[in-house]
Amino acid sequence: MSATPRRWSGPVRLIHWAMAVLLVGLVALGWIMTHGRFDLGTTFTYYQWHKSFGVVALGLLAARLGFRLASRRPPDIGPAGWQRHAAHGVHLAFYGLMLALPISGWLMASASPLHLPTRPFDAFTLPDLVSPDMGVFTALSWVHALLAYGLLGLLALHVAGALKHQFVESDGVLRRMGF
Ligand code: HEM
Ligand code: HEM
Repeated sequence: MSATPRRWSGPVRLIHWAMAVLLVGLVALGWIMTHGRFDLGTTFTYYQWHKSFGVVALGLLAARLGFRLASRRPPDIGPAGWQRHAAHGVHLAFYGLMLALPISGWLMASASPLHLPTRPFDAFTLPDLVSPDMGVFTALSWVHALLAYGLLGLLALHVAGALKHQFVESDGVLRRMGF
């Protein structure tokens, strides 16, 4: 049996940072496309990018879960007790959001009364999960927005925890997830 690793496995580290950039970019683009004032063509293009990269996020999550479950994780470091529970809780909630966000987006795109097809990078058409319905669309757009801004709240906690590890406990936590 191999020794317990000191760092997260290469694919887990790579996907962690790729998804961090992607998710923050998706929240930013989502906010811009729904709150900015653009002509119809630009709005359409932003929505298509948002939906395409949102589908990429779902694909990366599947790969991430595979690598995460297939490789051994480094042991917990830092103070035990509530802070460790909080860190694990945030990680679990991140996984929930990384799944619920693209799925709610997909459901919303399906329920949209405009009923424009979702074609990620113009490569294929995403099948509809539900039929168009204004009420369902409105409810889902609330849920989707709430989840997305909730992700930012968790990210603030997550980054604060990482910085405390790095600079207060000086346990090199960023190296474990870094390159
Ligand atoms: C939306 C963006 C982010 C998400 C969804 C996210 C998610 C996660 C998750 C789920 C873990 C647990 C390991 C795993 O299962 O992969 C983790 C670990 C980690 N994250 Fe993030 N993260 C994000 C952004 C960041 C940022 C910006 C930093 C830098 C300050 C960071 C630093 C770390 C570190 C250092 C670990 C390793 C913790 C340890 O070794 O115990 N993350 N992250
Ligand atoms: C992790 C992935 C995703 C994140 C973080 C995200 C984030 C966001 C954010 C922040 C907004 C703006 C909410 C508001 O202020 O009203 C938004 C809107 C939207 N998202 Fe996403 N999204 C993701 C995935 C997806 C996917 C996969 C789809 C569809 C296939 C999608 C479809 C939409 C649509 C149609 C809107 C506009 C809703 C409206 O017009 O009210 N999203 N998203």
